Amino acid sequence: MNRQFAYPKGYSAYPRGGGGTFSISPHKFQPRSQPALRRRRQLFVKLSALAGLSLLLLFLLVPSWRALILPSISVGLFSSSHDDLSLETVRYYDLSDTQGTAMGWHREERVLMCTPLRDAAAHLPMFFSHLRNLTYPHHLIDLAFLVSDSKDDTLESLSARLTELQNDPDPKMPFGEISVIEKDFGQQVNQDVESRHGFAAQAGRRKLMAQARNWLLSATLRPTHSWVYWRDADVETAPFTILEDLMRHNKDVIVPNVWRPLPDWLGGEQPYDLNSWQESETALALADTLDEDAVIVEGYAEYATWRPHLAYLRDPYGDPDMELEIDGVGGVSILAKAKVFRSGVHFPAFSFEKHAETEGFGKMAKRMKFSVVGLPHYTIWHLYEPSVDDLRHMEEMEIERQQREEKEKEEKAEAERQQKMKQDTKEEYEQGSATAKKNTDKAAGQEADQRQTEAESSEKESSAKGEKEDAIPRNPEKEGSSQDKSNDKTY
Ligand SMILES: *[C@@H]1O[C@H](CO)[C@@H](O)[C@H](O)[C@H]1NC(C)=O
Repeated sequence: MNRQFAYPKGYSAYPRGGGGTFSISPHKFQPRSQPALRRRRQLFVKLSALAGLSLLLLFLLVPSWRALILPSISVGLFSSSHDDLSLETVRYYDLSDTQGTAMGWHREERVLMCTPLRDAAAHLPMFFSHLRNLTYPHHLIDLAFLVSDSKDDTLESLSARLTELQNDPDPKMPFGEISVIEKDFGQQVNQDVESRHGFAAQAGRRKLMAQARNWLLSATLRPTHSWVYWRDADVETAPFTILEDLMRHNKDVIVPNVWRPLPDWLGGEQPYDLNSWQESETALALADTLDEDAVIVEGYAEYATWRPHLAYLRDPYGDPDMELEIDGVGGVSILAKAKVFRSGVHFPAFSFEKHAETEGFGKMAKRMKFSVVGLPHYTIWHLYEPSVDDLRHMEEMEIERQQREEKEKEEKAEAERQQKMKQDTKEEYEQGSATAKKNTDKAAGQEADQRQTEAESSEKESSAKGEKEDAIPRNPEKEGSSQDKSNDKTY
C-alpha cells in the first residue's frame, strides 16, 4: 500500500494558483504575475499570426504543397494550443536553472532530502533534531521519506513529528513539500546490528535497499530540484551547515567521512562507513574472477580488496576541505546534483561492475563521467549500536563492576572497623597513659627505690623459677593428679 500525505502548511515547491492539495506560502511563491502572462500571450498571438500568414502564402503560391500543408493548417488554425499557456495544469520548466551551483542557497536552489526508514521510530527524535538544526533555508528543502518493512510505529511517529515541525510557530522551521511513501520490499533480515552487518546477508540486503532508494527518488524528484541529499536517520552528530559545506565543493556527488563513537573500553571511536573507497588493482583483478551476478561488498574479510577507504584516511586535525576522488560511495550522507539522477544514474539493484546500491551508484556516476568525491577529514558520526558481542561484554563488565563495588564496600567497612578499633585503643591508651603519668609524677621521687625493688623482685622471680623447675621431677604425684583433673574435663 502506498500512501502519500499532503501537509497543509509549509512551503510549496510549485509556483501555481490556489486549489489542489498544495498551498502556497504568501511570501515565497506568487503565481506568475499578470503582466508577464499577458506579454507571453501577446507574443504568442503575434507569432501565430506570422506563421499563419506565411503558410497561407505558401499555400497560395505552391499548389502541390496543399495536400501536405492542409492538415497542419487546420490544426494551426482551429486548435486552441495558445490557450494551453493559461491552463492551470501546464507548467514550464527550464532545467538549466536547476543544474546546481556552489552557492545554491543564494540562488534559492531546492534540495530534495531523501531518507529511507525501516523500524526507525527510536531514531526519529534525533533525526528531527538534526532537521531543525540545519542552516540551509528550510523552505528550500523538500523532504521525502520511504517507510518500508517496519514492525514498529515508524509511520505514526513520523506523521506526528512532521505535523509538529510544519506547524512550528518559528517561520524558519517549516520545510518545503513533504512526501511520505509507504512500501514494503520484503526485507527479511532482522534489523539488529548483527544481522544487518553479517557478510552472508549483504548482497541481498543491498539489492533491496537499492530498490527502495530508486522508488523513493523516482517518486519524489521534481524538475524544481537542483540537489538531492541522501541522509540516514541514525546519524548522531553532524555539523548544522553540512548541506552548505558539501555544496560549496560544487561536485556532482560528494560524501563526508563517517565514523562512530565507541565506549572507552573499545577504543573511543572507529571508522564506520567502509563503502566509500577508491578502486584498486587487486579489487579489479578480484572482480574479474567473480561470477557475473556477484556483488562485492566492501569492509568484509571475505573480499580482500586492499582499496583505500575514505574512513581510514581520516586525520582529526586534517583540512576538512581536502577532497579525494573515490569510486564507491557509502549511503549515510550523500549530496548529489539532481542532474546526476536525471541523466539516469541510479542505485543498481543488480551487479553493476560487481557492485550494488550506493557503491554501484558511485561506480555508475564515475562511468558517466560525473565527479565523485569524498572528504576524508570532514567527519560526521553514526550512532553507536552495540553488537551482541559488545552487549555480552558489557554485561560481564557490569557484573565485574558490581562485584568490585561490593568488594570495595566490604573493604571500606573493614577499614572503618579497624579505624574504630584503633581509635578505641588509642583512647584507652590515652586514658591509661594519663593515669600512668599521674603515677609517674607521684612516683618521680621514688624512682630509684622502685628500680631497686624491680631488680630485687626479678632476682626473686628467677630464683623462684629455678625452684619451680626443680619441683617438677621432685613432685610427680602432684603432676599426675593435675593430669587426672584435665581428663575429667573440669577445665
Ligand atoms: C540541535 O541544536 C541544539 C541546540 O544547539 C542542541 O542542543 C542539539 O543537540 C542539536 N541536535 C543535534 C541532533 O545535534
